[in-house]
Amino acid sequence: MKVLVIGNIGFDLMAPYLQKEGIETILTITTREPLNAQYADKAYFFTSDTNPWPLVEFALDKKVDAVISISGPDVANLRDGYVKDILEGEFGIPVLANPLEAVQVAADKEKTKNFLREQGFPATEGHVVTSRAEAFEAAKEYGYPLVLKLIDHSGGTGMKIAKNRLELITGFGDAERMLIEKYTAGPEFSVEVLNYGHKTLPLLPVFKGFTNYQCLHPMERVKLAPAPLPETDITRLRSLARDVISTLNVQPTGDVDIVWSEDGPRILEINPRFGGVTALSMAASGIISYHALVDMLLGRWISTDYQFDRHFAADMPVFSDIEFDSVKELLHLDGVFRVKIQKLTKTSGRIALKAKTMRELLSTAYEVARVCDCADCFTQLKSLPEQLKVVAA
Ligand SMILES: Nc1ncnc2c1ncn2[C@@H]1O[C@H](COP(=O)(O)OP(=O)(O)O)[C@@H](O)[C@H]1O
Ligand SMILES: [Mg+2]
Repeated sequence: MKVLVIGNIGFDLMAPYLQKEGIETILTITTREPLNAQYADKAYFFTSDTNPWPLVEFALDKKVDAVISISGPDVANLRDGYVKDILEGEFGIPVLANPLEAVQVAADKEKTKNFLREQGFPATEGHVVTSRAEAFEAAKEYGYPLVLKLIDHSGGTGMKIAKNRLELITGFGDAERMLIEKYTAGPEFSVEVLNYGHKTLPLLPVFKGFTNYQCLHPMERVKLAPAPLPETDITRLRSLARDVISTLNVQPTGDVDIVWSEDGPRILEINPRFGGVTALSMAASGIISYHALVDMLLGRWISTDYQFDRHFAADMPVFSDIEFDSVKELLHLDGVFRVKIQKLTKTSGRIALKAKTMRELLSTAYEVARVCDCADCFTQLKSLPEQLKVVAA
């Protein structure tokens, strides 16, 4: 069997499992460096754009038996939705990716909101405005502060908070359309859900800290999994995420972003792909999502067979520069699960940790903070469960 894998981030986790099954792999590299190319039988550079046809032709030319998409950004997920549509519809080649209808909704914050409302899922309050006058109306309805979002952006890009009329005017600028939401205070959670062929498995919820006026995105916060919540709340978050992902039919994986407001959980958005909580969900649940994708492909994806092997896991953003040498040192530390170098506004990368006990987790976190010279990430992690308790009380 020969499989084309679109997207190379995370392929290192998938490759040994594919190899064990005797599956030949062709990998498309979409990052600047040929990251993980060495794990594939053949690897090719591919500029990531919106046109599905080069990938369709490539798959046909290489005579692959199936395609798996582990693409990152929403535009790539949309493109892969078209790739699926064409290859499955016209050539009978199975493609593990989102159905077009699902990704079209999830990649668009306005469509997501409409979908959630129509299906009766709790969402953050908000709507799209198309003029300054409508923005003022929204301010009257929701009150300040307001959250202003560009509709088709993610990763916190294009998001602003307006605490008063002046900030609303500046924030709206000369935009033609913008999503305006009521500011929802509370702790944030994400639940990753694996879904294929009507079998759905929600992994353990990740606690991502609190919504804040500084617009500090969860990608730049310390995160902890499983979320330190009572079992009943964990079950509630998992079933909400499971229902959302299976109703929209996001495949093969997606996560649901939730803020637990005063009046219960409210959904912020749906990410139809591996994302910011993937490493943490895997570490906490003991289920390697990338292996599950291969099981789906091989027709043996039965969610009830997947047993959780619970661990404590954390994701620490590093606020100082990560030196190349320290990456090696980090990977040798007991309890370091993944290291991701990614330059964002305030951080240079993230390190996912995994341990059997919270005590061991904190001791690894302490070591990581020392190697990275970032005391703050350790202090934040240590205080996270306590912060959540204060809110719950
Ligand atoms: N209505 C809201 N109230 C308070 N904070 C919000 C609201 N919407 C978004 N945020 C904050 O902005 C972050 C990013 O928003 P989100 O809708 O998840 O977009 P993305 O992750 O695609 O940038 C959230 O994780 C949260 O911290
Ligand atoms: Mg988000």
